Amino acid sequence: MRTVLVLNGPNLSRLGSREPEVYGTATLDELAEACAATAAELGLATDFRQTNDEAEIIAWVHEAADRRMPIVLNPAAFTHYSYALRDALAMRTAPFVEVHLSNPAAREEFRHASVVAGVADGTIAGFGFVSYQLALRAVASLLAAQATSG
Ligand code: DQA
Repeated sequence: MRTVLVLNGPNLSRLGSREPEVYGTATLDELAEACAATAAELGLATDFRQTNDEAEIIAWVHEAADRRMPIVLNPAAFTHYSYALRDALAMRTAPFVEVHLSNPAAREEFRHASVVAGVADGTIAGFGFVSYQLALRAVASLLAAQATSG
């Protein structure tokens, strides 16, 4: 069974209490559970992680590249300025889907740019937890397409 690394950037540990009008009232643990349930339906497993540390998230992306693991990533604020994270993601060896709980395009101007979007297979934003569940479905479909193309 393939394991998808589901990575979360800064401040997402505060889900539940962080700006609930934007991010909702459910917690990061509940998000991890929802991802695990969706992955199981798809015949996948998840390894769900969060950090506030740019170096740590980059190390996890390197690990994914070395282990040929697909990535679902919410880079949080790193989305908008971390060229180092983008460069790490450019070395990926398996599918990568960018996700956001909110719709950054409908928020402040500084959130409109994603420096990682250009190295992703695609981006899903604006659907809360469903963004992650859709991203896992996209990963499953990319893996299936790779398997049939040999
Ligand atoms: C976010 C959107 C980012 O702009 C913000 O910095 C976050 C969360 C989202 O999931 O909607 O921390 O990535």
